[in-house]
Amino acid sequence: MKACISTVQFSFCEEDRNQAAQRLLAKLAGKYDYLSSGQYRAVFKMRGERVLKVPLSEAGEFCNDGEGSIIDDTCARGKWLEIDGFVCVMQEYVEDASLSTIRSRLGRLPDWVAGVDSAQVGFTRSGQLKAYDFVHP
Ligand SMILES: Nc1ncnc2c1ncn2[C@@H]1O[C@H](COP(=O)(O)OP(=O)(O)OP(=O)(O)O)[C@@H](O)[C@H]1O
Ligand SMILES: [Mg+2]
Repeated sequence: MKACISTVQFSFCEEDRNQAAQRLLAKLAGKYDYLSSGQYRAVFKMRGERVLKVPLSEAGEFCNDGEGSIIDDTCARGKWLEIDGFVCVMQEYVEDASLSTIRSRLGRLPDWVAGVDSAQVGFTRSGQLKAYDFVHP
């Protein structure tokens, strides 16, 4: 089922930022495939196996800043950037994988997966297992 961008809720402290974020999302939706949203970010698929995560609140900007700064083999690579005054992150695309899929692909379940909130992990195009939602407010 295709995700529906019109139901996304913004919760910036200032109302004009909610409206600006809504305009940014509408602009991006005209250019890129909208993948999904969580509580804090809306996510678009970009060219070149990347996603763009756009904040829905200050907490989302905090997550984007963190995910765009951490360098770790178990975390999706990312770089934060500012778009229209919002802290976003460009992150490598990770195809979500269930625990059983991970076990069958790797023959084991790496210990660190249990430490990732809701096991939000999957495989990169090159087959590396990485977390894609790893900074929390
Ligand atoms: N790197 C990625 N590659 C592919 N899809 C992704 C990636 N990052 C996020 N997504 C998709 O976008 C959704 C929302 O992203 P994410 O979970 O990072 O946002 P969030 O607002 O922090 O979520 P949560 O409510 O879980 O805290 C994910 O559930 C997933 O479907
Ligand atoms: Mg999430």
